[in-house]
Amino acid sequence: MIVKSTLVAGLLLALGFSVPANAAAGIAPPTQRWSFQGPFGTFDRAQLQRGFQVYREVCASCHGLQYVAFRHLAQPGGPEFSAAQVRALAAEYRIQDGPNDSGDMFERPGRPADYFPDPYPNEQAAAAANGGKAPPDLSVMAKARTYERGFPWFVIDVFTQYAENGADYLYALMTGYVDPPPGVEVPAGGHYNAYYPGHIIAMPNPLSDGRVEYPKTAEGRPVVPETVSQYSRDVTAFMAWAAEPYLEQRKRLGFNVMAFLIVFAVLMYFTRKKVWASVGGDPVAMHEPKQYT
Ligand code: HEC
Repeated sequence: MIVKSTLVAGLLLALGFSVPANAAAGIAPPTQRWSFQGPFGTFDRAQLQRGFQVYREVCASCHGLQYVAFRHLAQPGGPEFSAAQVRALAAEYRIQDGPNDSGDMFERPGRPADYFPDPYPNEQAAAAANGGKAPPDLSVMAKARTYERGFPWFVIDVFTQYAENGADYLYALMTGYVDPPPGVEVPAGGHYNAYYPGHIIAMPNPLSDGRVEYPKTAEGRPVVPETVSQYSRDVTAFMAWAAEPYLEQRKRLGFNVMAFLIVFAVLMYFTRKKVWASVGGDPVAMHEPKQYT
């Protein structure tokens, strides 16, 4: 009874108050297909490597990645660059270290254990260089930018295990630079984006077709199209990994736990049967007065 009324109350609440969070400010991002969605989803290594390339060649001049260390790029479940590749990559960066014996800070080449250095010395400098808005760190962006899907989706999502709101938003944002509708005034330093809440974003459209040169096949053609849509997809997958580097391990563990529980439930069923067999298999019978004949 209590369960039933709680459920009804929950549904009524949901019906009454479910307005998508940015319904007034933007259009809900369309759902995309991702290799990492669903209970068995995994990251596509090649896609993560391309996404990292896009981050490095385009986004890194403005956005930091402070919770990602170079060595993370080699660990299982991620882009899985080789240890040698990661060493070479880290060495291309200058990292501030110190103080040394004379008390001075100094710069040295990066090592795999170092974290990505921020492109700006501090937030004020970042804001000053970008028209007053500091570009946010991208490490956990795929988790930070999510949106409410409202009723009935949040119920359906429990069953379909939909959890890619962040990735869908980021993809929509990257591909959402369109001409402003007539009558909409875009202030100086602002850019119109169909999916950014409020539509006016300080980030200029970072991507354009052909901007990043992807690895080539034996015939000299890029492995995937060098288009804004593909770049956005790849860099979004990369951000999804950066925000949740242990996604694959988590899903694998979840599967193992479910498999264990199913086997355990079957064992318990037979155990119960065996334990209660002495009273005719019926637990209720134990409480009834014994019949002596
Ligand atoms: C020229 C500098 C610049 C470049 C290059 C750049 N960004 Fe940005 N980005 C910004 C600024 C500035 C903001 C803050 C926008 C605002 O607050 O209006 C921002 C905001 C964002 C946001 C947050 C949006 C939100 O919902 O708040 C994301 C995500 C993002 N950028 C992703 C990227 C990605 C991915 C790339 C590379 C493909 C990239 N950016 C390249 C300057 C840049």
